[in-house]
Amino acid sequence: MIDTQLLSTLKTVMQRKGLSQRDLASLIGKNETVVSRWFAGKVGISPTSVKLLEKAMGEKLTRETSSNKVALITGITGQDGSYLSEFLLAKGYTVHGIIRRSSVDYRERIAHLEGKPHFHLHYADMSDSMSIIKVVSRVHPDEIYNLAAQSHVQVSFDAPEFTANVDAVGVLRVLEAVRACGLTQKCRIYQASTSELYGKVEEVPQNENTPFHPYSPYAVAKLYGFWIVKEYREAYNMFCCSGILFNHESERRGETFVTRKITLAAARIAQGMQEKLYLGNLSSLRDWGYAKDYVECMWLILQAKKPEDFVIATGVQHSVREFAYEAFKHIGIELEFRGEGLNEEGVCVRDDRKNKHNFSLVGKTLVAVSPDFYRPTDVVNLWGDPTKAKAKLGWNPSKTTFEELVKIMVNHDMAKVASEGAAAKVRTNLAEYLEKGIVK
Ligand code: NAP
Ligand code: GDD
Repeated sequence: MIDTQLLSTLKTVMQRKGLSQRDLASLIGKNETVVSRWFAGKVGISPTSVKLLEKAMGEKLTRETSSNKVALITGITGQDGSYLSEFLLAKGYTVHGIIRRSSVDYRERIAHLEGKPHFHLHYADMSDSMSIIKVVSRVHPDEIYNLAAQSHVQVSFDAPEFTANVDAVGVLRVLEAVRACGLTQKCRIYQASTSELYGKVEEVPQNENTPFHPYSPYAVAKLYGFWIVKEYREAYNMFCCSGILFNHESERRGETFVTRKITLAAARIAQGMQEKLYLGNLSSLRDWGYAKDYVECMWLILQAKKPEDFVIATGVQHSVREFAYEAFKHIGIELEFRGEGLNEEGVCVRDDRKNKHNFSLVGKTLVAVSPDFYRPTDVVNLWGDPTKAKAKLGWNPSKTTFEELVKIMVNHDMAKVASEGAAAKVRTNLAEYLEKGIVK
């Protein structure tokens, strides 16, 4: 029998690990023709081969439970939504996602999932209660992952009312939709909360008991989301929880968040497509993890015996300056940071790029500071304590190290820039205008 779910999981794992059918065949000591017949749907994969594959891949490919659970993800087109969809599909869930209408469909992150039998999309908007109620009543989810948000902190200063509507009242709309559909006892709800709640931090590292001090319109809106979830848990006995997630990044991160801005710029500079990278506060400290590891925790939070809130972080802190240093270093460019505040610069002191593209970068200022990227109030010291998640959920916060994360992102962006060629320059300008709030 052909197990399409197994095949699709296998393809996802192979894609993630960069394995071809030939690689797979040699890994498990089988003829390539056998493997290609599996993928052509001509023969099924025997249980013995499944075991061999699982051993070679180091992960489970078959459903761990015969759950057939139904999940609804808001924000499915975002960084986390795309990874969470892959994760849940591999577990045998039927995944439904909410996408909002726009004049241009932008679904790059989930394009590879569209058309799969257990993957469905619905139009709705977090600012429109009726649309949410309609989807919830149609889907009858066992689990809702509320990831949709205006998620950029700087943008929340430019669009505070929109941010409040989506990030604060949007959460209430989801909770009320579940009540209106009579699903309070069936449906578990995960709320994408954030380390930004700690804001102007009152202690380091931050855990579930650290006082909140939100420090941007985004954080204030997310604080409402956190408290309304807690309120509904207590008032209506609903299984709804917040994951207080610290920054998590990936090769799918939006281009105006600092890590992706850096890895893309480093790749463009290395390939002669950009002169300089302008950043804001280089001393800002973050606890950066890998998004793919963090979506597992969202799921674990909803599988727990009782509903609780959890801090999800790596427990390791780095500055924006260190992230930039590491990203350039991975390409073979060594930076030395000189000066202070607005006058600080990252100068290239060593150029060991594999492909020098016929120019040297030594002596050039590759990173500069611009007041355009300073925020009216900035959160500068985030450092999470994942002890509770480790102990109660068995989650491993050290799966991907800081250095590995930077490497994954830089490798991805080096290849992306190389394939884009001259178009990479256009994208640089676009991202910069977006972040500064300029439309040109
Ligand atoms: P993201 O890439 O910016 O994705 C946000 C998603 O929300 C997108 O799918 C977006 O749709 C959707 N969305 C925005 N406004 C909407 C609306 N009015 N109606 C329906 N959908 C809407 O964010 P992310 O990094 O994946 O983060 C996921 C969630 O975790 C967010 O709530 C974020 O605030 C929170 N969080 C993120 C981090 C982090 O480090 N990544 C840390 C803590 C918490 P479009 O594609 O149409 O724009
Ligand atoms: N975006 C950006 N651009 N940030 C910069 C720059 C720059 O040029 N230069 C310095 N930074 C600093 C910001 O001031 C901030 O202190 C830090 O880098 C991280 O900024 P972002 O990457 O934009 O992320 P964030 O921490 O503000 O917000 C992200 O993480 C939150 C969790 O802590 C978002 O994903 C939020 O949605 C999430 O809640």
